[in-house]
Amino acid sequence: MNTLAAYKKHLQEIGKLRSAISLLHWDQRTYLPPKGHAARALVLGKLAKMAFELLVSDQLGHYLEELETQNDLSLEEQASIRVVGKAYRRQKSIPPDIYERFTIAQSRSESVWEQAKKTSDFELFQPHLQKMVDFSRQFAELYGYEDNLYDALLEEYEPGMTTNQLRLVIEPLRKKLVPFLKQLREEGTQPHTEVLEGTFPIDQQRKLSSHVLKAMGYDFSAGRLDTTIHPFTISTGPRDTRVTTRFINNNLFSGIFSTMHEGGHALYQQGIPQKLHWSGLDGGASSGIHESQSRMWENMVGKQLPFLRFFQPILASVFPEFARARPEILYDAVNTVTPSLIRVEADEVTYNLHIMLRFELEEQLINGRINVGDLPELWQDAMKRYLGVVPKDDAHGVLQDVHWSAGMFGYFPSYMLGNLCSAQIFAKVKEEIPDLDEKIANGKSIVLLSWLRKQVHRFGKMYEPQDLLQRVTGERLNPSYFTQYITDKYSQIYKL
Ligand code: CO
Repeated sequence: MNTLAAYKKHLQEIGKLRSAISLLHWDQRTYLPPKGHAARALVLGKLAKMAFELLVSDQLGHYLEELETQNDLSLEEQASIRVVGKAYRRQKSIPPDIYERFTIAQSRSESVWEQAKKTSDFELFQPHLQKMVDFSRQFAELYGYEDNLYDALLEEYEPGMTTNQLRLVIEPLRKKLVPFLKQLREEGTQPHTEVLEGTFPIDQQRKLSSHVLKAMGYDFSAGRLDTTIHPFTISTGPRDTRVTTRFINNNLFSGIFSTMHEGGHALYQQGIPQKLHWSGLDGGASSGIHESQSRMWENMVGKQLPFLRFFQPILASVFPEFARARPEILYDAVNTVTPSLIRVEADEVTYNLHIMLRFELEEQLINGRINVGDLPELWQDAMKRYLGVVPKDDAHGVLQDVHWSAGMFGYFPSYMLGNLCSAQIFAKVKEEIPDLDEKIANGKSIVLLSWLRKQVHRFGKMYEPQDLLQRVTGERLNPSYFTQYITDKYSQIYKL
């Protein structure tokens, strides 16, 4: 076997293990009975170790070294070697004993966080969070960086992105959003939401969500829909991408938009061509680009008038109480803006403010400019400045998100980048499909999916996020598309 074939076979072996890991994860978060969790953790640990050993194996190192100098490779093969090579070197830079100590501390930290969140006890969590910060700083040093220690962590989720670039995006965004939110609150007319009130049986909600997924173009013969507590989407291997969602009895649209969000992630995965499967390229260009797809379907399709025109009769066929609900009334009602304490409940206008706050705190933490013990107070300050609301306890403040407890520093910006990229890409879509609104209103959102397939999905991880954005939209990240979208949409809804 030549080196290229051996390399591909090696990646397939890693891919098969990861498929098994993903399936067990999916099961763990959907149907696994409570008493099965302890043993499942052991099985997952074993498989993860096997996959890790294959990734950092000297054999893979030799293949990469040889292939990196070979010049008769296809574009896909070159991209695979670049992406896998990077992952290999990153993992290899961490001594195995340090990594093992980290994984043990991490699982301890996650479970203490769960407890601390329940009882709103930051002091209980503090020493564990300190360890996660210390490990992350150590990892960042080992990964290497140019300007800012935090860049080394950011790289994991957003290849090519730096702290300085983020600041250049955040600054103008904050200057626009903070006063705009204030203006909405003080001068705007808050829409009525009575039309959304009621109790909606879960079985019927599930029917509705399946219908919406089908209308989006989701392929049920290559996936399925289930319910969970914290919705997620997962590919358990080629041609099997599963969506999970969450239904709330008295909040019908929460379930619908959660399904559309996860559906957007799933369409991306389903659109990755077979030739990229198990090549290291069978994922999104970055967490942010992945989130741009979910946000686009949730916000730029779902929370818009054309979709609601299409959707209202379907809604009324399942819940007759909506028979006389005008799409215009639904549109205003699902787009209310309310500064909230909790990130995952935030609307389009306030969401990025939650992210800025987290980015600023974690960047300072990693660089040692603030201490873990100062977080609760700094959190309160920033909430007041950005959103004008202050949590009454740490459970609704600094303890609300799981990320830091797992040592995932550098992830939060992806959510914001997802929002910004979705607006930038969608502006391009509208330019290229001038009758998109009409198509969506007539249930033909498939034109959008086809466009995304051709421009974004089929490349998987072949391009770095900024390069992909450049290809798709003709420019690199530009936050003005998002601010334009937000001010246009909400000035109209709030009658400014
Ligand atoms: Co998402």
